[in-house]
Amino acid sequence: MNSGNGQQGNQLTTRQGHPVTDNQNIRTVGNRGPATMENYHFIEKISHFDRERIPERVVHARGAGAHGVFTAYGKMGDQQISKYTRAKLFQKEGKETPVFVRFSTVGHPSGSPETLRDPRGFAVKFYTEDGNWDLVGNNLKIFFIRDAMKFPDLIHSQKPDPITNIQSAHRIFDFFSGTPEATHMVTFLYSPWGIPANYRQMQGSGVNTYKWVNADGEAVLVKYHWEPLQGIRNLTQKEAQEVQSKNFNHATQDLYEAIEEGNYPEWELLVQIMSDDDHPELDFDPLDDTKLWPREQFPWHPVGKMTLNRNPEDYFNEVEQSAFGTGVLVDGLDFSDDKMLQGRTFSYSDTQRYRVGANYLQLPINAPRNKVATNQRGGQMAYKTDFAEGQNKHVNYEPSVLGGLQEAPKPGKDYMPRYEASLMRQVIDRKNQFKQAGDTYRNFEDWERDELIMNLSNDLAACDKRIQDKMVEYFTQADEDYGRRVAEGIKMMSEKMMKMKEEMKKKRQAEGTDGPMGNT
Ligand code: HEM
Repeated sequence: MNSGNGQQGNQLTTRQGHPVTDNQNIRTVGNRGPATMENYHFIEKISHFDRERIPERVVHARGAGAHGVFTAYGKMGDQQISKYTRAKLFQKEGKETPVFVRFSTVGHPSGSPETLRDPRGFAVKFYTEDGNWDLVGNNLKIFFIRDAMKFPDLIHSQKPDPITNIQSAHRIFDFFSGTPEATHMVTFLYSPWGIPANYRQMQGSGVNTYKWVNADGEAVLVKYHWEPLQGIRNLTQKEAQEVQSKNFNHATQDLYEAIEEGNYPEWELLVQIMSDDDHPELDFDPLDDTKLWPREQFPWHPVGKMTLNRNPEDYFNEVEQSAFGTGVLVDGLDFSDDKMLQGRTFSYSDTQRYRVGANYLQLPINAPRNKVATNQRGGQMAYKTDFAEGQNKHVNYEPSVLGGLQEAPKPGKDYMPRYEASLMRQVIDRKNQFKQAGDTYRNFEDWERDELIMNLSNDLAACDKRIQDKMVEYFTQADEDYGRRVAEGIKMMSEKMMKMKEEMKKKRQAEGTDGPMGNT
């Protein structure tokens, strides 16, 4: 086929558009070399290859993505949704908004197995008519910490040792034993809920508390949940190891193949609502992301459905370079005072300006689908300027009477919460570190509790006694049975490990390999 400019349709070119006539041989003096430096095609090819990678995400490096559509229900139960939010994407039954979703593991690098015990990321970008909305969540509904100040420490403890480059339970539980609020999340993570079977059969949650704002400028607190219509499935440690021995890309493969086969995964979006105040009647702070909002008290209301129906055409362009952030909201959605949410909101776009580049929002995967017109110019890799229709293109500032961009009209009454408090650094009052961890432990099925105890005991047996004692104290405060069983499990595992060590020593002695040189 001829492309119309003298080139064959499938003809290889350089990035400069030059036809490539020899893609096998570098240019050399004689056919044995040396090579010449003016060989533009080779230098372009190899130097582009040298730059193929960008820094991987500091967390959530391993991921898979897909495109799809969100369809609104237009109602919340028998009420119009406009009573709570004026966000346009939710208003009309059947209204469709394109989405891109990226699922991920958290602590491990980009090539790591997808079977590891880790929360899973569940980030959704809605390309709405009012610009993008990112709902950046996890599969589990709570988190380890409630103050953004602690996030780098949490992540350092989960990542490999800075000297040996080995991840260790000792470092992980060293952090957790000084972080009682993590007990609830640790309880989920070490149960089968810490290894979802794949991405299609897992839940999602916004985790942090947001607000919805209606046309009168009134707000409510809101939490988001995604329920998979494929059902939920988790793995035991043994099942995960069996999967991993055969395939460490199983979750990416499962998602990709399901979509290729037309077996489109779907999730329903549900919300929990609370009035926008401190709720002194609750034994926890509604803005504390280590807590669940009890479902009996705060029912889940379905508000829409998401279907993933298209695989990315290029993993790097769409999945690796996708950039989600909690600051990316549209009119009718707002932040709450949740201290984690506020810290996260700075972090995401900050890291993306470094990881992807200052113009990351010009990339098709990140660019909104509605009209963009800003006075921002330049920066690395800037390649286009979006002008409004009829705009004076010489004017890249505001205000101006010469035909520059104008502020938009207000879409509704401003939401203006009042604040009156002293500035301080202090933990919240209603910490209630252990009660919900105990509830969660008691709500598990027997096999889930058995798994939890076994997984915790295995990891804690390798830890310092001070760390073991502190963790057992936390589990006991959550539920006496929980603490007792973990203590017994650690004892049993430690004895087993000691016995194994002694047997190995005896074996080495019998082989004559025990000693400073043979003890390897
Ligand atoms: C990714 C920071 C808490 C969910 C990231 C990234 C950073 C970050 C820097 C990498 C983003 C990128 O390179 O594009 C933080 C901070 C937190 C925090 C500072 C706490 C203060 C959380 C929580 C959740 C969460 C509580 C769950 C609700 C995610 C997800 C991604 C991510 C899903 C991956 C997004 C993607 O697929 O690109 N986070 N995070 N993070 N975070 Fe957080």
